[in-house]
Amino acid sequence: MKSLPTSSALLDWYDRHARDLPWRVSPADRKLGIIADPYHVWLSEIMLQQTTVAAVKDYYVKFLRLWPVVQDLADAADEDVMKAWAGLGYYSRARNLKKCAEHVASELGGTFPDTEEGLQKLPGIGPYTAAAIAAIAFNRPAAVVDGNVERVMSRLYEIETPLPDAKPEIRTAMAGLTPDDRPGDFAQAVMDLGATICTPKRPACALCPWTDVCRARKAGTAETLPRKAPKKVKPTRKGAAFVIIREGDGAVLMRRRPPKGLLGGMTEVPGTDWAEDFDPVSATDHAPVKASWRKRTGIVKHTFTHFHLELDIHVCRVSQTLPAPGDFWWSQSAAHEDEALPTVMRKALAHGLA
Ligand code: ADE
Repeated sequence: MKSLPTSSALLDWYDRHARDLPWRVSPADRKLGIIADPYHVWLSEIMLQQTTVAAVKDYYVKFLRLWPVVQDLADAADEDVMKAWAGLGYYSRARNLKKCAEHVASELGGTFPDTEEGLQKLPGIGPYTAAAIAAIAFNRPAAVVDGNVERVMSRLYEIETPLPDAKPEIRTAMAGLTPDDRPGDFAQAVMDLGATICTPKRPACALCPWTDVCRARKAGTAETLPRKAPKKVKPTRKGAAFVIIREGDGAVLMRRRPPKGLLGGMTEVPGTDWAEDFDPVSATDHAPVKASWRKRTGIVKHTFTHFHLELDIHVCRVSQTLPAPGDFWWSQSAAHEDEALPTVMRKALAHGLA
């Protein structure tokens, strides 16, 4: 073992290999004195919670085009924000994003707090996001720990404790390495290392700037770390969704889900409750219209954080003169793109219309 890991070895690597990301101020630009916009950093970090860089990029660009500054997002209609977020998942993030923008715009004069403590008081900002914004936007030496950082630190220091118990050790390791002068670049460098070199499978140790100082590399255990407590098995819930098509124009009946809870405030096609003891035979009794139903062959599968879902899809055609019942509306096929439909509902709709 040559010596101990240093932040400068990683920062030298980052100066040459930093990923070009739409929310990022490149290391070269940073050296020219360009600083990150806290609104950009906040928006990107909320989107990146539990979501990959590849999935986030286009959403981030779209949000900034629609709402260039935090005041614009605060002034937007809730529904437009949910529509723009549709497909990105974890919809409570979008609801909190809107609340946070409103708070920053109306209570804080459009300026984000510049400390971890202040940031954590805002809706949707937990310890990870507060540390990331404090480091990247405000150059605070906060220890930023996400999944990539957990993997890199557990390998670098050969931390054998399984997650989540290893979290305090990992945080201490990251805090000990984080430099005072470039904490934001350092955090992003560890994330980039985890995403491109120190990958979960087959890490490219030969290309790693810490290869000589990595304990797991030396012990040959890199690929086995971090250890994880066994995952709980997810239950499977079942249900039915109803694709109700209007004759003539092919519009489909939709409604908004209640504001709180799973997929809160998002648009859906009507359906039954989702349950482990779902009864498929009586499903259409729960539909909002009486009709002659055809059950589509196959099922729609979707996985949420806490359960798998399997949906039967029932389709019917109804008269052009049928008014939309209760809180439903008719959505023209050309407008489906624009509805706040979460991915599971897009799948259900596509299966029903196929
Ligand atoms: N994942 C979460 N935040 C990130 C960032 N700022 N850069 C790269 N990956 C990230």
